[in-house]
Amino acid sequence: MKNTFTKTNKKPIMLSGIQPTNNLTLGNYLGSIKPYVKLQNKYKMYVFVADLHALTNKFDKNNLVNNKRNIVCAYYAAGLDFNKCIIFNQSDVISHNDVSHVLLCHTTLGELERMTQFKDKGLSKNDNNTFYVRTGLLTYPVLMAADILLYDANAVIVGTDQKQHLELTRNIATRMNNKYGKMFVLPEPVIMAHSARVMDLLDPSIKMSKSNTNPKGVIYLSDPLNVVYKKIMQAKTDSFNKVNYDVKKQPGISNLIEIYVAISNISIETIVKKYANQNYAVFKKDLANLVCKELKTFQTKFKKAEAIFDKQIKPLLVKNAKICTQIVRKKTSLVYKKIGLQ
Ligand code: AMP
Ligand code: TRP
Repeated sequence: MKNTFTKTNKKPIMLSGIQPTNNLTLGNYLGSIKPYVKLQNKYKMYVFVADLHALTNKFDKNNLVNNKRNIVCAYYAAGLDFNKCIIFNQSDVISHNDVSHVLLCHTTLGELERMTQFKDKGLSKNDNNTFYVRTGLLTYPVLMAADILLYDANAVIVGTDQKQHLELTRNIATRMNNKYGKMFVLPEPVIMAHSARVMDLLDPSIKMSKSNTNPKGVIYLSDPLNVVYKKIMQAKTDSFNKVNYDVKKQPGISNLIEIYVAISNISIETIVKKYANQNYAVFKKDLANLVCKELKTFQTKFKKAEAIFDKQIKPLLVKNAKICTQIVRKKTSLVYKKIGLQ
């Protein structure tokens, strides 16, 4: 595989990444990976494995290696064009942290302590009922800001949980542009209308997440299809037994409708009309078949990616890291110059 992207390409720039923590879920797929695929022709895309970010959570060395590989294979399996997009491992591009440090010195402690994700993850007790707050968890939105600003990204695809970090990125960039002269592009969040927050199947009040404790509420992209089918059939709904979209009164069925929309591209109205006289079991069966069909294609391509990983994908990652290192070096140099370091 060769990378055909050239410098003369004038498309706007899109950048996004996923942390290699735990197994990927349907939430990651619909809120993040599938949108990359949808938008890959509209933008010049940088898609990376946010491995430095994974260190901000409890991690296991061997799992980290596997998870990193799995994310790249998932990008391939979902249909990202590896000849067009620049796919890379964050830690292969050594100097993301150089600019991150400069940004940190222009960010207040209060700003970071206000981040919802830090409050959720950092201020809750861990497995053995003690507090162990990694400083990296507090400062990680600033590393994320560096990831984005280094590449002059115009747009960043994220689920709603990351929107606040994008706002922080824009605030830091504006602050620095105003103080030292323009050096950063202000990125816009790109959030999908229907899959920005896929909820847990058993508790639709919480996000479907890699780290949720009950795996029955989470569809993993690696789940056998019969398990996927069963999880959807057993998803929590309500006693109205009416396929209706009302997030407040019927959060379970509304979440399933969102998943249906995200996979089929059929509108909520059409789906609600189609199932107006059907019970939940009929709707769930159709949805389960839809999700299984999508995941079957994904899983077949994932196996192919694993098979070609060492020979074809790995060299591409190495090559892309070199391209990114050049971009980052240039930007870091500009930032250093603007603030008086060089
Ligand atoms: P994470 O799994 O937290 O590393 O998230 C990776 C990307 O997937 C981010 O852009 C998230 O916003 C997105 N994402 C994670 N979980 C979900 C979900 N349940 N629904 C929609 N997007 C999600
Ligand atoms: N923080 C993101 C997450 O937890 C991952 C991430 C790191 C990211 N850097 C990024 C996403 C830059 C978009 C752009 O999901």
